[in-house]
Amino acid sequence: MLASWTPPNDYRNRPVAILGAGVLGRRIGCIWASAGFDVRLRDPSPQQREDGIAYIKENVSIYAQKTGKKAGAVHAVESLEEAVSNCWLVIEAVPEKIQLKIDTFGELDTLAPADCILASNSSSYKSSEMLEKVSEVGKRRVLNMHYYMPPQNMVVELMTDGHTEEKIFSFMTDRCKEAATLPYVARKQSTGFIFNRLWAAVKRETLTILAEGVSAPEEIDSLWTEMFVKGGATPCRTMDDVGLDTVAFIESHYVEERGLSPEKTVDYLQARYINDGKLGTKSPLGGLYPPLPSEEKCLSKDRRLVVLDIGLSSATPSMKSGSIVEFSANGKFQHTLVENQSLPDGLAVDPQTGRLFWTNMGIPGKEDGSVLSYDPETKVVDTVVPTGTINTPKQLALDTTSNKLYFSDREGLCVYRCNIDGTELEKIVQAGNPQNSENAQDARNWCVGIAVAPELGKFYWTQKGPSKGGQGRIFCANISTPEGQLPSSRSDIECVQSGLPEPIDLEVDESNCWLYWTDRGEIPLGNSLNRVRLDKFGRCSVSQKPEVLARNFNETIGLKLDVENNSVYVTDLGGSIYRCDLTDESKSLLYADSSRAFTGIAFI
Ligand SMILES: *[C@@H]1O[C@H](CO)[C@@H](O)[C@H](O)[C@H]1NC(C)=O
Ligand SMILES: *[C@@H]1O[C@H](CO)[C@@H](O)[C@H](O)[C@H]1NC(C)=O
Ligand SMILES: *[C@@H]1O[C@H](CO)[C@@H](O)[C@H](O)[C@H]1NC(C)=O
Ligand SMILES: *[C@@H]1O[C@H](CO)[C@@H](O)[C@H](O)[C@H]1NC(C)=O
Ligand SMILES: *[C@@H]1O[C@H](CO)[C@@H](O)[C@H](O)[C@H]1NC(C)=O
Ligand SMILES: *[C@@H]1O[C@H](CO)[C@@H](O)[C@H](O)[C@H]1NC(C)=O
Repeated sequence: MLASWTPPNDYRNRPVAILGAGVLGRRIGCIWASAGFDVRLRDPSPQQREDGIAYIKENVSIYAQKTGKKAGAVHAVESLEEAVSNCWLVIEAVPEKIQLKIDTFGELDTLAPADCILASNSSSYKSSEMLEKVSEVGKRRVLNMHYYMPPQNMVVELMTDGHTEEKIFSFMTDRCKEAATLPYVARKQSTGFIFNRLWAAVKRETLTILAEGVSAPEEIDSLWTEMFVKGGATPCRTMDDVGLDTVAFIESHYVEERGLSPEKTVDYLQARYINDGKLGTKSPLGGLYPPLPSEEKCLSKDRRLVVLDIGLSSATPSMKSGSIVEFSANGKFQHTLVENQSLPDGLAVDPQTGRLFWTNMGIPGKEDGSVLSYDPETKVVDTVVPTGTINTPKQLALDTTSNKLYFSDREGLCVYRCNIDGTELEKIVQAGNPQNSENAQDARNWCVGIAVAPELGKFYWTQKGPSKGGQGRIFCANISTPEGQLPSSRSDIECVQSGLPEPIDLEVDESNCWLYWTDRGEIPLGNSLNRVRLDKFGRCSVSQKPEVLARNFNETIGLKLDVENNSVYVTDLGGSIYRCDLTDESKSLLYADSSRAFTGIAFI
C-alpha cells in the first residue's frame, strides 16, 4: 500500500509557488496573493520576473476586493528548489511544450514537500501526459488546474490525472473559493475539460450553419443573445423543461440525417433516463436534475391555508363583510380567524412568528386603506398602517430577510414599503400622478400585484391595465432604490412582461428562478395561472412568452407557491380554492362556496 496524501493542515502559513511569470502565471499569482498567501513567482527570465511582480503589486488590491483578505507577500525567484520549498501548492504555467512539462513535474516530485499539491495550467495536455518522471505516490497529488483570463474570468477547472486523490478535489475546491475563484471539477480526464467542450460544440455547429449558408454571423449572435443571454436558458435545465423524451426524439432526427452515432445522445438518454420514466421537469422522478423534494415533507408539517374573503358575495355585502378564514391544506374549512374587514385583498404570514399581515382596500379612491396584523397566539389585531395615508392597498408581500412589508396601492398608482410595525413607510414606485384625473383613470398605472425576491435583490409588481384589456404589464426594480432617485423617475425599472390580459397577483420562486402570476383577463390566455423564467439576475425579456399552467378560473386573484410539492394554490372571486399540481399539470378544486369571494392566500 502506498501512503496516501494528507491535506496540508498548516497550508495557511505556507506559500504558493507559480512556475512561469507570463501573462497567465502572474494573474494566477495575483489570485493566490489576494487570498492572503505568500506567493513565489519563478521564471528563468529576469524581465518576466520583474514584470510579473509589478503586475501583482499593482493589481492585487483589485483581486483582494473579492476575497476581503489582506494580500500576501510576493517574491520572484530564479531557482526551482527555492521556489517550492515549504509550499503547499505549486502551479505550473510554463510554456506549452510537453518535454518541458515532463521535466518540470519530475523535478517537482522530488523537490516539493510530500504533501504539496502539484497543478498544471495546461489546456492542451492532460496532466497524465506529464507523469513520465513522477513517482507512483507523486501521481496522486498532481492535477490540472486550468484558469481562463482572471480577473475578468474567475473560472478555474480542476481535473484528475487519472491517479489524483479524491480528497484533493474537495480540498482545492474550498481553497479556490477562498481565492474568490469559481471552481468546477471534471470527474474524469477529458480533452478540453468541461467548458472548452461545450464551446467546441457551439463553434462546430455555428461554423456548419455558416458553411451551409443558412445564416449570417450577426444574425447568429443576435439569436444567441435573445435565447440564451436575455432568456437566461441553460442547457441541462432547458432539456429537463423540454422533456428528455422530446430531446431524444429531436436528436434521433439529426442522428439519421447526418449518419451520427446515437450512442452518447439518444441511446444514453433512453437507457439512463427515459426507460426509468425520468422525463424531466414534468416527471415526478425528475430528469437530468433530481425531482423536487415532495410529499412527505409537506404532509409532516400539517400546514394550513389562510385565505381572505373580500366579503362581496356574502348575503349582506358591506364595507365590513370581509374576513380571514382558515382551511386545511386540502381545503377543508376550519374556522374564521378575523371578521368585519373592509375589503381585504393581500395577505402574508411571517413563518417565524406565525403573524398574519393583510391589506384592507377600503373605499377605492379614498385614503382609507390600511394594513393590519393578527397574532394567532394572542388573537389580537394590530394596526400596521392606519387609514388616512394610503388609498387602495392590494397584494402584500413580506421580506423576512429585512422584515419589510411591500404592497401595491391601486388608486394610489404606487408601490409602498414599510417595516412590519408600519414605521418608515416609503413609496418606492410611483406609476402616475393620482391627482391628475387622466393619470388616475388610466388603469395601465394601477399597481396591483407585488412580490419580493431578496436573493435576486429585486421586487416585482403588476400594472394590470383596463379590465380584460390586454394591456397588463409586470415590472421589476432593485430593492435598493438608486441613490437620490425618485419613485416616479427611478432609472432601474424594467418591464419584464407586457400585453397581458389582466395580470393580478405575483410570486417568485427564487430557488428555481420562476416568476408566477394570476391573470383575471379574458380567455383563452386570461383567467389563468402563468409563469415565466427569470435569469440569474432576476430579469426576463418582454419577448419571452409565458407558460399558461392552468386555466378557466372564475376571476382569479391570489396565488401561493408550494415549491416543495411542486404545486400552486390559487383563489378566485367565484369563491373557489384550487391546487394546481405542476408535475402532472392537473388542477384540483379544493373548496367552493359561491357566497364567498377569495383574494389573498398564504400558509400558516
Ligand atoms: C495591472 O492590470 C492592468 C489591467 O489588466 C494592466 O493594464 C496593467 O498593466 C497591470 N499592471 C502592471 C504593472 O502590470
Ligand atoms: C494556461 O491556460 C490558458 C487558457 O487556456 C492559456 O491561455 C495559457 O497559455 C496557459 N498557460 C500555460 C503557460 O500553460
Ligand atoms: C403534494 O402533492 C400531491 C400531488 O402531487 C398531493 O397528493 C399531496 O396531497 C400534496 N401534499 C400536500 C400537503 O399538499
Ligand atoms: C363584527 O360586526 C358584527 C355586526 O356589526 C358584530 O356583531 C360583531 O361583534 C363584530 N365582530 C367583531 C370581532 O368586532
Ligand atoms: C440594480 O441592481 C443590479 C444588481 O444588483 C446592479 O447591477 C444595478 O447596477 C442596479 N441598478 C441601479 C440603477 O442601481
Ligand atoms: C363564477 O362565480 C360566480 C359567483 O360565485 C358564480 O355565480 C358563477 O356561476 C361562477 N361561474 C363559474 C363558471 O364557475
